[in-house]
Amino acid sequence: MAEYDYVIRGGLVATAADESRCDIGIRDGRIVALGASLGAGEREIDATGMIVLPGGIDAHCHFDQPMNDGSRMADDFESGSISAAFGGTTTIIPFACQMKGGTLRDAITDYHGRAEGKAVIDYAFHLIVSDPTPGVLGQELPAVIKDGYTSFKIYMTYDDLKLNDRQILDVLDVARREGAMVMVHAENSDCIAWLTERLEQAGKTAPKYHAEARPPVVEREATHRAISLAELVDVPILIVHVSGREAVAQISHAQSKGLRIYAETCPQYLFLTAEDLDLDDFEGAKCICSPPPRDAANQEIIWNGLERGIFQVFSSDHAPFRHDDPQGKMLHGKNASFSKIPNGIPGVETRMPLLFSEGVMTGRLDLQRFVALTATNPARMYGLYPRKGTIAVGSDADIAIWDPRKDVLLTNDMLHHNVDYTPYEGRQLRGWPRWVMSRGELVVDDGKLTAKPGRGEFLPCDQPTPARPASARQPLAVAE
Ligand code: URP
Ligand code: ZN
Ligand code: ZN
Repeated sequence: MAEYDYVIRGGLVATAADESRCDIGIRDGRIVALGASLGAGEREIDATGMIVLPGGIDAHCHFDQPMNDGSRMADDFESGSISAAFGGTTTIIPFACQMKGGTLRDAITDYHGRAEGKAVIDYAFHLIVSDPTPGVLGQELPAVIKDGYTSFKIYMTYDDLKLNDRQILDVLDVARREGAMVMVHAENSDCIAWLTERLEQAGKTAPKYHAEARPPVVEREATHRAISLAELVDVPILIVHVSGREAVAQISHAQSKGLRIYAETCPQYLFLTAEDLDLDDFEGAKCICSPPPRDAANQEIIWNGLERGIFQVFSSDHAPFRHDDPQGKMLHGKNASFSKIPNGIPGVETRMPLLFSEGVMTGRLDLQRFVALTATNPARMYGLYPRKGTIAVGSDADIAIWDPRKDVLLTNDMLHHNVDYTPYEGRQLRGWPRWVMSRGELVVDDGKLTAKPGRGEFLPCDQPTPARPASARQPLAVAE
């Protein structure tokens, strides 16, 4: 009888800490052995010449999230999780969104209903807290954190979601007491409303004006404010989808003071610019997201922040709205003002291949940094480590086997999401995952889906255990 259910043989196995050429033995969905010349597996994968990495964790993606404006997300847990798996991701963490006037429990129950029987990979939930009533702060939030919903996003913009500073302080205070992680969407709402009104009054309504309504100073001010509020309460926070220099400066300053300020960025801030919003025939709407993509100099700042450890997490912020669709980007028609166009960009499948090709294969990021950003740090940040996010004895066998020689011309046709475009159409990439395994089961086998919807399990999260940001590490105290 074979010693293992699966053996992955002879690949270069990399984690956030190191790399070595070894075999991986898998039994009952877990990694049980790492070593040279392991015994036989019932099934084996020859990974010679391949790079074997922990399956990615996309800790910021939106699937089937109820919307207030009549728009509809194109991906549900089935298409979204399939698309994620094809791009090397084995855990997704989308958002159960509290509606104003609604409860957190209602949001969670509704979202479990939407996920039920659909996902091909494992999933956890973040919460979006949009209505922090005394009941939510005093009872619901502490109770759901104990139940495994240990992270939540708060918004400083969007009328239906935003919190004022007093409300933010209250939410941060609960997070400090209960040991939860707060993700902050940092843009100044009043500045955006004021700029939008002026642009629209001047007839400047084309998609490209979205970027003018949300300039870097708007993000900088809110980032600074969020950091100050977190410092006041003495709680770690994570600033999501950071777009460029101004916010990076605030975050890096806070980290250098020793504050536990964490940060996430996304592919759109490395590979798109505001010029992508300035395309004729409503094409620019495809790249409307918030904060907006900036320019080449800002892309460079983001790369630099990834290299230097200012960012801990690299997520997709997959927000899937079809372009040619009255429930998508065309919600109010082609001539609608930018302010009426649903915000968001698809990217759950391309997140890791883009960073692998343009970061790892170009030598900008080493494999350890790539794994840390895409898998290990998100697992730590959101209470899933070490079950997820690494290759270690005892961890779930969530593994992506990458072919670093595979050349891929990216087109929307080859992707598995339900969106009718990718903003990265026509890009030439090097490297793509060939086999993807979730809890010891092959879900993608050399380009073919081999998993049934519904096999993905819900993951209650523990308390976050993030490492301090690299730039905020204190010297090791050693007794004389
Ligand atoms: O434009 C974006 N980022 N849409 C998704 C929602 C969010 O704020 O993350
Ligand atoms: Zn956001
Ligand atoms: Zn988002």
